Amino acid sequence: MKVATHHLRCTECTTVISKDEVSSNFRCPLCNGLYEVVYSWTNAAAGPDSRLPNPSALRWLWQERRSSTMPVDQSGVWRFRDLLPIVDDLEKVITLREGNTPLYDLPRCAKAAGIDWLLAKHQGMNPTGSFKDTGMTAALSVASQRGFEWVACASTGNTSAAMAAYAARAGLRSIVFIPEGKIAWGKLSQSMDYGALTIQLKTDFDGCVKILGELVKQFPIYLLNSVNPYRLEGQKTPAFELVEQMEWQVPEHVIVPGGNLANSSALAKGFAEMRELGLIPRTPKISIIQAEGANPLYRSLQENGGESFTPVVANTRATAIRIGNPASWRKAVNALRTTGGWCDQVTEQEIALAKAEIGAEGVGCEPASAVTLAGLKKLVAQGKISTEERVVLILTGHTLKDSAYTIDYHRNELFSDAEKAQLSPGEQLQHAALRKPPIVLDADPSLVLRTLESHMHQPQPA
Ligand code: F0G
Repeated sequence: MKVATHHLRCTECTTVISKDEVSSNFRCPLCNGLYEVVYSWTNAAAGPDSRLPNPSALRWLWQERRSSTMPVDQSGVWRFRDLLPIVDDLEKVITLREGNTPLYDLPRCAKAAGIDWLLAKHQGMNPTGSFKDTGMTAALSVASQRGFEWVACASTGNTSAAMAAYAARAGLRSIVFIPEGKIAWGKLSQSMDYGALTIQLKTDFDGCVKILGELVKQFPIYLLNSVNPYRLEGQKTPAFELVEQMEWQVPEHVIVPGGNLANSSALAKGFAEMRELGLIPRTPKISIIQAEGANPLYRSLQENGGESFTPVVANTRATAIRIGNPASWRKAVNALRTTGGWCDQVTEQEIALAKAEIGAEGVGCEPASAVTLAGLKKLVAQGKISTEERVVLILTGHTLKDSAYTIDYHRNELFSDAEKAQLSPGEQLQHAALRKPPIVLDADPSLVLRTLESHMHQPQPA
């Protein structure tokens, strides 16, 4: 008889169900709450008879697997499979060797933010260019092993790209619902390139979610948005990688962008599980940054401390997080409360400046990821983060995802005149120093030489 490796627990009414009882929209029938995956060791107190895996044995095992040629070991998600036993057959996991993403130091961004030490965990270095791959390998492998033929998601572009790719790997058929004209071309091209049925709806992301919510009640389609708790089991693993890359040291602070608000709670779950298992002594604070034009969580916390929630009509050029009615807002409030983190909002101008600063480090990211650096500057200025704290930014998407944004910025065509007028002289200087508009020249060698000479005499930025 197969022993259940995990159960699903409602994060609001705490009702526990078996994995086979879950509804197609992953909502609790009693309270409409969202589920989380729980294991025999979840919240289990360490004790002589506890069935907790031995932490040093785990660390050794995870290190050993780094030299293995097996796909499940080469994956930066399934290498930690002991902490996400969610599939019956490991041989059949769907993997693109996701994870194993770099941890970069950002010395110039640290200086710009006013702190001594800053790192970036770049999830844009995943196979389809965003952190979604870590969640998708987990949830799509579950869908595949449960015999689903069709999978679907509503997306601002990255979930759809990842789902389309993993579904193609698994030989499943995928449908993506995206808000027409509201996602970056790079992402739209991916869902088509990976063979998904791409439906552009004349509404926003929240409208797409509503349509899909009705569809999964009527058709045998497996829902792969982040209401699916298996997504979070994959997305918690960057927390494991991060502390492993820091020699099991724990940073004081981790900063994530907030859109549909699942990723912050996935990372919080990963850190909490490591502490429960004795792998780390404490968890870092996790702070969530939103765009001012798509800030429902920030507003809820300002207005009522996260007790109730009012959706907004979202509008930001950081299109990945252009979300007005995030499904996992309660999970995000809980992640802030349990880790002691903060939530803040940043302007379009602050996002663009931070993105250019991360680009100038030779790292780069998509606009939504840059809210992390913009938010860090505000938290330091407010005294909520001190100069000696070790901070890690979670850069969620690759710079190539939204090249139009980057080109418009460097050509100084991103902002409206009204937005430009809001910039202080100091801010205008910062942007001017970072902008590298392309220079168009006649193919005249002497002209090229003079142009280069004029640039070569300019001082190298500090
Ligand atoms: N950063 C990027 C690049 C994203 O694509 C997303 C979400 C987020 C941050 C926010 O993460 O939703 O867990 O709070 N993208 C989703 C999508 C909504 O459909 O691609 P979250």
